[in-house]
Amino acid sequence: MSLYKLFCKTIILNEIRYPPQKILPITNNLGMNVRRAKQGDIERICELYMTAFPEDMEYLFGEPFTDIATKFLIHNFTADKNLIANCLVAEKNGKVLGVCSTRFSDYVHYKETEDFDTDSLSLKSITRMICSFGMLDYLSRVNEGECLIDFMAVDPEFRNNGIGQMLMHSATMNAIDKGCKQLCLLVSPYSIRARKLYEKLDFILERMYKTLPIFLLGDRTMFIMVKYLPPTYSSDEKQHERNDNISLQ
Ligand SMILES: CC(C)(COP(=O)(O)OP(=O)(O)OC[C@H]1O[C@@H](n2cnc3c(N)ncnc32)[C@H](O)[C@@H]1OP(=O)(O)O)[C@@H](O)C(=O)NCCC(=O)NCCS
Repeated sequence: MSLYKLFCKTIILNEIRYPPQKILPITNNLGMNVRRAKQGDIERICELYMTAFPEDMEYLFGEPFTDIATKFLIHNFTADKNLIANCLVAEKNGKVLGVCSTRFSDYVHYKETEDFDTDSLSLKSITRMICSFGMLDYLSRVNEGECLIDFMAVDPEFRNNGIGQMLMHSATMNAIDKGCKQLCLLVSPYSIRARKLYEKLDFILERMYKTLPIFLLGDRTMFIMVKYLPPTYSSDEKQHERNDNISLQ
């Protein structure tokens, strides 16, 4: 049993298993291309991540966090090759504007470099990291047949244009292709914009976790949202449902 379980209370919010919804095709009128991320995208992905979660970065690294957080994120993405391999990016005119990271049950951490040099971190940062990353790892366990949306971030200048929705659509189709029965994600009660988007995409609030702030990047609560997926489509149906301009090759 994970030690983190002792510090976390689970509250079931919804036990009804709704039938899977048909995934409706989306229109790509944005001239956007969704593709798998590559090593060369790491710096941009880290930049998007930091802009999307500044409160988390500040909680972990203190102010100013940019330099140390950049080093830390780049180290993690470079060290674990599977992390980047599981990211989808939305790109327009060669510029990455959004990222969605997914994880499947067969995910393994793939490390080939040294651990991050903790000499550059304060004891407070290290403690906060151990507690919060450990708890988040525990809460985001992925069972067989599930796909976890690990995080999603869109360039602030390009939000509310449907990029998030496009990334989620690609992640959903990818999960269906892999035979997943459900998508799940952790979302903070304060991410109102994200929750609204997920609800619109038929995610249901299923569980709430309550813990001490040290275990949740300074917050006490986290929600789990779930979306049940239809079975794998035949290739004809798949062609119809998939947006022509979204390719994951
Ligand atoms: C959450 C987040 C990823 C959403 O990305 P986004 O690209 O702004 O999302 P979308 O544009 O697809 O959807 C947002 C709105 O745009 C609308 N929209 C969708 N397609 C559109 C289109 N083609 N044209 C115009 N608007 C559109 C959506 O309907 C939605 O509107 P609504 O609020 O009325 O429902 C982004 O806000 C973000 O990076 N937030 C910070 C990080 C975060 O909270 N991540 C999620 C937790 S992991």
